Amino acid sequence: MQKVLLIAGARPNFMKVAPIWAEMQRRPSEFAPVIVHTGQHYDAAMSDAFFDDLGLPKPDIHLGVGSGSHAVQTARIMTAFEPIVLEQKPDWVVVVGDVNSTIACALVCAKLGVKVAHVEAGLRSRDRTMPEEINRILTDAISDLLFTTSQDADENLMQEGVSDDKIRFVGNVMIDSLQAHLEIAERSKVRIDLGVEGSDYAVLTLHRPSNVDDRTTLAGIIDALIAISEKLPIIFPVHPRTRAKIDEFGFDKNIAASGLRLIDPLGYIDFLRLYSGAKLVLTDSGGLQEETTVLGIACLTLRHNTERPITIELGTNVLVGTDPDKIKQAASDALSKPTTKTNIPPLWDGKAAGRICNELIRS
Ligand code: UD1
Repeated sequence: MQKVLLIAGARPNFMKVAPIWAEMQRRPSEFAPVIVHTGQHYDAAMSDAFFDDLGLPKPDIHLGVGSGSHAVQTARIMTAFEPIVLEQKPDWVVVVGDVNSTIACALVCAKLGVKVAHVEAGLRSRDRTMPEEINRILTDAISDLLFTTSQDADENLMQEGVSDDKIRFVGNVMIDSLQAHLEIAERSKVRIDLGVEGSDYAVLTLHRPSNVDDRTTLAGIIDALIAISEKLPIIFPVHPRTRAKIDEFGFDKNIAASGLRLIDPLGYIDFLRLYSGAKLVLTDSGGLQEETTVLGIACLTLRHNTERPITIELGTNVLVGTDPDKIKQAASDALSKPTTKTNIPPLWDGKAAGRICNELIRS
C-alpha cells in the first residue's frame, strides 16, 4: 500500500489531480491518496467550484497560504507543508504542472529525502521571464520520477542531463479529465444563459503577468479583441488578476461598448461546455492549448512562445504573439477557413492516470 500526497494548489492543478485521485480510489489495495490543498488559489470560483465539478472530495489537508509575492507565497507553502510531510510520512508526493505550489512542495520533499513525482514534466518555453518556466526547470531537477505528456518533453529533460530511467512518457492526464466530463458538460446551460447557443462566438482567457500587468501590452491586446468582437462576440471569463488590471487601467468603459463580454470565472464543466462550442479560442493559458487541440477547435495563443509545441505540430494551435495587427490578422484567417482535422497527440487518450499509478507502484 502506497501512501501518496497529491498536491493541489492553483486552478490549473485541479483537473490534473482529479483523475489520479479517482484512479487511486479505484485501487484501494494499492493506494491511500491524501489531497493537500496549498490554498494558492482560494476564491470559490477559482477553487471550490473545480473540486465540486471534478468530483474531488474536500481536501484532506488545507494549508491556507493565499496570495503573496513569489518569494512569500513559495516560502509560506514550504513552511506549512514541511510538518505535514514529517507527520504523514508518505511513500510518494505527487506534484503537477508548474505553479508555485509545485516547486514549493517538491523542494520540501527533496530536502527531506521523500520521493517526489512530477506530472507534466519536461515542458519548456525557453522563456525564463515566465515564473512557470523557473518552476518547471527546478521541479524537474529535483524530482525522482518525471511523468511526461509528449516526447519533446523527454528530449528536453535528457538535454538537461536527466537520466532517462527517471522519465516516463505516460500521456496527458488533463485529457483524462476532459474526456471524463465531455458528456456531463452537455447538461450545462452556460451557452443558453449567455445567449450564444447555436451561434458563432469566440472564447478568451488572459491572465499571464506579461500580458496583463503592463498597461501598453494589455491596451494593445484589448484593442485587437474589441476589433475582432465586431465580427463575433467574444466571451471572456476574467481571471481576478486581469480584472484588477482592467479596473486599474480604466479599460472597462471601452470594453463595455464592444462585443467583448466580461463574465466571472467559470467552473470546469461550464467552461468546458463554453469553449467546446466556440468557433475560435484566444488564450495565453497552457492547458487550453491542449484542450482545443484534442477537440479540434481553432486556438490562437497570445504569447511569443509555448512550452507545448506539439499543439502546433499536431494540433490546432497557432502562436500569434501580442502585436494587435497580428492578432487581428490571425483571427481573420482562422475565421475565414474551417479548422482542418488535426491529430490527437500520442497517449492523450484518457488513460494517463492509470499509467501514472502503475509507474508509482513499479518505481
Ligand atoms: C497562477 C500560476 C499560473 C497559472 C494561474 C492560473 C504561479 C507562479 N502562477 O497565476 O501559472 O496559470 O495561477 O490561474 O503559480 N487571486 C484571487 N483569488 C484567487 C487567487 C488569486 O483574487 O483565488 C488574485 C490575487 O490578487 C493574486 C492574483 O490573483 O495576487 C494572482 O494570483 P497568483 O496565484 O499569484 O497567480 P496567478 O496569476 O493566478
